[in-house]
Amino acid sequence: MAGSSSLATNFAKRLQGKVALITGGVSGIGESTARLFARHGAKVVIADVQSELGHSVAEEIRSESGQPVSYVQCDVSKDSDVENAVNTAVSMHGKLDIMFNNAGITGKYDPSIFSVEREDFSKVIDINVYGGLIGAKHAARVMIPEKKGCILFTSSFASVCYGGIPHAYTASKHAVVGITKNLAVELGKHGIRVNCISPGGVPTPLSAKVMGGVDLKTVQEAYMAISNLKGVPVDAIDIAEAALYLGSEESKFVSGLNMIVDGGFGLTNSGFSAN
Ligand SMILES: NC(=O)c1ccc[n+]([C@@H]2O[C@H](COP(=O)([O-])OP(=O)(O)OC[C@H]3O[C@@H](n4cnc5c(N)ncnc54)[C@H](O)[C@@H]3O)[C@@H](O)[C@H]2O)c1
Repeated sequence: MAGSSSLATNFAKRLQGKVALITGGVSGIGESTARLFARHGAKVVIADVQSELGHSVAEEIRSESGQPVSYVQCDVSKDSDVENAVNTAVSMHGKLDIMFNNAGITGKYDPSIFSVEREDFSKVIDINVYGGLIGAKHAARVMIPEKKGCILFTSSFASVCYGGIPHAYTASKHAVVGITKNLAVELGKHGIRVNCISPGGVPTPLSAKVMGGVDLKTVQEAYMAISNLKGVPVDAIDIAEAALYLGSEESKFVSGLNMIVDGGFGLTNSGFSAN
């Protein structure tokens, strides 16, 4: 079949010629995705608040992949920063094919209702929800005239597992799933696909901090111990591979999906405890 042979031809570089903007791309899942996207031929712009590290991560990925990879300072909770990040990607590379709204924080990691405070709640919603929404808005602005594009969000297994997770974080990640589906309907008529990924526990600086500052190996072992899928050590690359699929032509008919990448954890655990 013509379709399958062209997929086979493109398999080695599944994002050849694509331009991707990744928020929260300096660390963890975002960094791993930036690395994988560049390896697959994408031109990548990393948007984050960690500028010093951001420039060195971009330089490292650039030299290992040979692809144009750059860093732009961007606090996703600030409209003007997000607008600037999208405009930077377009002015550098002429277009934007993939917008990965991945930046996120847990907020204060206390799952008790009595820990809920306005300031912490607002910060989590500002970054995890508004940050993604505004990323989608500016991406849509440049994608609609092209009649194509791919918008991705990072939600969480907090969209399907309950307890042991702060209420603000749970609220924010449910909101991301809702936005994904609502936007998939709105932007589908412009040929733009919108999907989100819900990772289970992944060893990153975020989860290491939640576990009290342990090292990434300890986080990985802890997740392996509670995993339904035995013998498979989870890593940020596993989420990056899902983003690669959703960002590539191989998922060209997939939109409105909350792709849960948790090794089946949520099937056997509707509850969760970080400790
Ligand atoms: N690690 C996990 O177990 C896990 C599980 C489910 C979902 N997630 C989600 O995955 C995403 C990535 O998390 P991670 O685990 O890679 O964490 P991480 O802390 O390693 O990376 C997050 C990145 O986001 C950046 N960031 C934070 N606030 C920002 C802001 N206002 N503007 C721009 N960038 C900002 C940070 O500087 C950091 O580089 C988050 O949305 C998180 O909620 C993580």
